[in-house]
Amino acid sequence: MKPAYEKPVIKKLHNGLMNKFGYSPAYARKVRTDIDGVPVADLVEKFGSPLFVYSERILRQKYRQMHTAFSTRYPNVVFGWSYKTNYLNAICALMHQQGSIAEVVSGMEYEKARALGVPGENIIFNGPHKAQAALETAVREGAMINVDHLDEIYALERVAQKLGRQLHVGLRLNLDAGVYPQWSRFGFNLESGQALEAAKRMKYGGKLVLSGLHCHLGTFIMDAGAYARQVEKMVAFGCELEKAFGYSIEYLDIGGGFPSKSRLKGVYLPPEVALPAIDEYAEAIAQALTKALRPGDFPKLILESGRALVDEAGFLITTITATKRLPDGTRAYVADAGVNLLFTANWFKFNIEMDREVGGVNEQSVIYGPLCMNIDVVDESVLLPPLSCGMRLTVSPVGAYNHTQSLQFIEYRPASVLIGERGEVDLIREAEDLADITRRERMPKRFAQEEVG
Ligand SMILES: Cc1ncc(COP(=O)(O)O)c(C=O)c1O
Repeated sequence: MKPAYEKPVIKKLHNGLMNKFGYSPAYARKVRTDIDGVPVADLVEKFGSPLFVYSERILRQKYRQMHTAFSTRYPNVVFGWSYKTNYLNAICALMHQQGSIAEVVSGMEYEKARALGVPGENIIFNGPHKAQAALETAVREGAMINVDHLDEIYALERVAQKLGRQLHVGLRLNLDAGVYPQWSRFGFNLESGQALEAAKRMKYGGKLVLSGLHCHLGTFIMDAGAYARQVEKMVAFGCELEKAFGYSIEYLDIGGGFPSKSRLKGVYLPPEVALPAIDEYAEAIAQALTKALRPGDFPKLILESGRALVDEAGFLITTITATKRLPDGTRAYVADAGVNLLFTANWFKFNIEMDREVGGVNEQSVIYGPLCMNIDVVDESVLLPPLSCGMRLTVSPVGAYNHTQSLQFIEYRPASVLIGERGEVDLIREAEDLADITRRERMPKRFAQEEVG
């Protein structure tokens, strides 16, 4: 066969120099042929491409590691699985099996947790929008509700009125722990006195009893000291509430936010260098608690970690479907997965591994997804040797916030599988088809068409 003509381009190659991490970028290769011992080729053959793959081994190991880090340093620790991070049923069920309760941020997530068999009292209900009906259900079922704003106080008071009893609730705070930009849009601000005013409002309303404090600083927090400052402020505020209103704070819910070994764009050093270990976070938090709390007083410490537990357990296999040269000479590829499945590509630079060794020199390349949209870029600058159509790439870590935020936009969402600890592969979500897309649509009679042909 005659080879296809390709327009020649001149491109400067940065070759031969060692960088400070000791490898030659011109020839560095990242090859992955299997995930937890299961060949990438077999996974694709059986379940298609693209494909989300989760490792049960990593999920359980991460959970055990984090649980040990905290429970060996503080006697009253509870984990609340952050559903929005990844609410595939199998992942949630695994987290519950490990001992996590559920942390949900919407009526839909609340229903999901209940459908999975989680009792109301094992659900933490957070989030800025809780519909009145969802609030009422959550109250009746005994969920822990963390109030986000004043209107929610009024809504809960209406529920209390209807039920003819006082309700125990938590208050979400936002505070300055040295993490900027500060997430101040959720909850009540501590330093301005807004949180104290809210507590006062609850007290004088007489229908709500404040028994918990919640604060989620943000996500991918790389400073363990921020959590120490957070818990110090939460404990001090709890004491203030006790003195001013006689409230007794039974839980301190410190949210999530621990990072995974992903690369946040703009962070120069590789994650191994930049990130504190989970033990450092646990140590900072436990020490700050011990210092701030009265001796022998151990309110429940709730952690809502999402990313740090699931991100590294998630992989996405994608296939190269076209190779291109851009007018400026940049090598470009089209893959069958893009930002429709990798929503977090905007903020994170993924690890991209090829399914085989390839000859040739690395070039700065761009990987586009399958969407007919300019923004669909998986990686705008990745060093790759010349790839050919049909090659599989494994993108990781993608376990956090990608499946839950995936878009059904011009493409079907693909299958998801879980690899068990003995190498068994279970389908945990089927690939979608047209029926999934159109199931809820209704055709007005006047548009109904005779079948053509
Ligand atoms: C209230 C709350 N809790 C927990 C989490 C989980 O955070 P992460 O995945 O960073 O641990 C989030 C995420 O934004 C959140 O908003």
